[in-house]
Amino acid sequence: MGALCVLTYIGVGLVSIVGAVKLYFKMTAGKCKSTRRIDGQVAVITGSNQGIGYETAKDLARRGAKVILACRNLESAQKAADRIKKETNNQEVIAKKLDVSSLASVRQFCADLMKEESRLDILVNNAGVAGMRRTITDESLELHFATNHFGPFLLTNILLGLMKKNGSGRIVTVSSVAHTWTKELDLENLNSEKQWEPKLLYARTKLANILFTRELARRLKAAGLSGITANAVNPGGVKTAIFRHARKTFKYMIMVSQFFFKTPEEGAQPTIQLCVADSVEGLTGLYWTDCKQSRSSTLGDDMDVAKALWEKSVEVVKLSDSENNLK
Ligand SMILES: *[C@@H]1O[C@H](CO)[C@@H](O)[C@H](O)[C@H]1NC(C)=O
Repeated sequence: MGALCVLTYIGVGLVSIVGAVKLYFKMTAGKCKSTRRIDGQVAVITGSNQGIGYETAKDLARRGAKVILACRNLESAQKAADRIKKETNNQEVIAKKLDVSSLASVRQFCADLMKEESRLDILVNNAGVAGMRRTITDESLELHFATNHFGPFLLTNILLGLMKKNGSGRIVTVSSVAHTWTKELDLENLNSEKQWEPKLLYARTKLANILFTRELARRLKAAGLSGITANAVNPGGVKTAIFRHARKTFKYMIMVSQFFFKTPEEGAQPTIQLCVADSVEGLTGLYWTDCKQSRSSTLGDDMDVAKALWEKSVEVVKLSDSENNLK
């Protein structure tokens, strides 16, 4: 056999393996099969100017909801809203400024929303960052934790005031399988006070999303708000812009692996299902992968850690009595 022939075999072999892996990802992706309409409902989706958030917003708009795109970049959100309006023929798509990494911005956004809206049915905590340089916000929060956990924590707590009015609603927080990378969560180091561990930061924020969801579901039940559910979702590997500000090496790694990843439309399916499907009605405090209930890491199941994280978060965001809707 000539060298060329061997190379051809290796080449064909590699292409087949890559193809098979890609096909596997496609086939296990999961799809929201619900055709339910949600006319009259109001939905807030953070980070919805692109990616999974955008696809989720578009889908909910198509189903008749009034959709609020809550984004840091208002101009980009406005363009996204215009595109969704055009594509879905739903004119009730609104872009609003929200920098979820800033507690002040969260409070401002909520104050405006409570004035303008009389109900809230769906809240999707989707905005997130990964692989950022070490940054402490002017509110002394570490940027990953500020954006991925503390901001959504405050946003959800305040907006529960609006959701409670109707007594039913769905809160979906976008987590990730990356939460399994970490085996511990030091509550005294959430804002990198003691140590800066860039590799595990994203994982820890995604773990926090699950713990937050579990404790939120428990508190909703305890407060007699069983019509409001909270779930965390792992969208799977999705081609997203989450790493757009990431350091170079991280970026290249992601770019290569993205070849296998889902499109944002596919990646949005599990989130959409949790927002609208009748099949998940009443299910709460759960972690989902590819539209199916799944297990988180052991740490993600630990209700003592979940409770401690909640209490710590109340302290960090200085949740006031009037912002606490789960008394
Ligand atoms: C909640 O909203 C639905 C749909 O608009 C409505 O039928 C229901 O009466 C509302 N419930 C409360 C308690 O306001």
